[in-house]
Amino acid sequence: MSPAGDPKAAPLPVFVAVDEAGAPWARAVHPLWPEATLVVPESETDEGRPAALRDALTRAGEAGRPVIGVGSLDGLVRALAPLVGTLAEPLALALAPEARQVLPVLGDGAALAAVAEALNARLSTLDQALAASAGGAGAGRLWVVGLGPGKAAWRTPEATAALARARHIIGYETYVRQAGPFREDQVLHTSDNRVELDRARHALTLAAAGETVAVVSSGDPGVFAMASAVLEALEASPDPAWHAVDLEIVPGLTAAQAAAARVGAPLGHDFCIVSLSDNLKPWEVIEARLAHAAAADFVMAFYNPISKARPWQLGRAFDVVREGRGPETVVVLGRDIGRPDERLRLTTLGEVRPEDVDMRTVVLIGSSTTRRLPRPHGPDWVYTPRWYGSAHATS
Ligand SMILES: C[S@@+](CC[C@H](N)C(=O)[O-])C[C@H]1O[C@@H](n2cnc3c(N)ncnc32)[C@H](O)[C@@H]1O
Repeated sequence: MSPAGDPKAAPLPVFVAVDEAGAPWARAVHPLWPEATLVVPESETDEGRPAALRDALTRAGEAGRPVIGVGSLDGLVRALAPLVGTLAEPLALALAPEARQVLPVLGDGAALAAVAEALNARLSTLDQALAASAGGAGAGRLWVVGLGPGKAAWRTPEATAALARARHIIGYETYVRQAGPFREDQVLHTSDNRVELDRARHALTLAAAGETVAVVSSGDPGVFAMASAVLEALEASPDPAWHAVDLEIVPGLTAAQAAAARVGAPLGHDFCIVSLSDNLKPWEVIEARLAHAAAADFVMAFYNPISKARPWQLGRAFDVVREGRGPETVVVLGRDIGRPDERLRLTTLGEVRPEDVDMRTVVLIGSSTTRRLPRPHGPDWVYTPRWYGSAHATS
């Protein structure tokens, strides 16, 4: 095998940088890659870290050993840049972030790409070996992944990486479909939208048995979605294997942000997000929150605004808000934002009717300062200025 095809035999030094979130993984992988030196500066300040890293990396590089360096990418690049040309050829710097992927960063193009490719193959073998050798309780990983509101371009690279690393994908069928495409070896577990806690327990059970698992939510998983369900299931469990699972919440763009961006910047000042679903909280609580939010002049975003089982609540919600806000208040209805059937409608608090809204809509209600601005093509811009009252912003 050529040196580039086998990182063990690659011309050294090879640097693999892992950001700090990846430090536990780097520590775990290290025993399976004994020829590498693990460099984790423990107590450096941000300023001191590149220097400490550079010294450690230089020593390991001079000894002709590959190095796994833990630090921010910026810090590692700063530490390593001065070494380019000072060490034996080639200098290959690669980054292994949470995706367990090695990306070429510095050095000679072709050689670096070849080393990165070979390292990726090796890292994936090591990671699988790690999962297999640890086996059983606590060995698994669980990502609770936010897919964003719809289109793939709004999904973060971190979410995509988690989906690629998971063997089991769990979620409401629509969202699992949205999370694809998947490989042949991935197992899809789809279920009805209403069984969040069961889904969470299923995910924790699989992960506690050593599997890699992704639970998917639309938007952000922490906004009326699976992250809370997983933590609730975890809190209720006395099983140490569940608590040993390497759990990570992978954020996503929430629907209100996406709708806001489409129309301008209605969330440019203080805002709140309220779910109008009274399945999990008493309606009186919702009404009280709406009344307070209206009185406090928050911009509001309504999620779960209406459904067949909850036909009257949205009309009542509008009435409550109307008590504290004028009929001219800007209202934005964003339906299926980021999806093929996306629809955006601008209206006012005086005119909006519950029939204009369905469950796939996010309702944005402006504050007293939210305004419209004509744009030549398409609906008006809507924005809420940064300033309030007499306090005009200068930055
Ligand atoms: C159970 S909540 C889930 C929210 C999701 N976790 C998020 O962060 O966007 C579902 C509600 O979010 C809103 N929603 C989610 N995706 C949307 C989209 N693409 N367009 C408009 N509204 C959306 C709707 O109000 C829907 O009833």
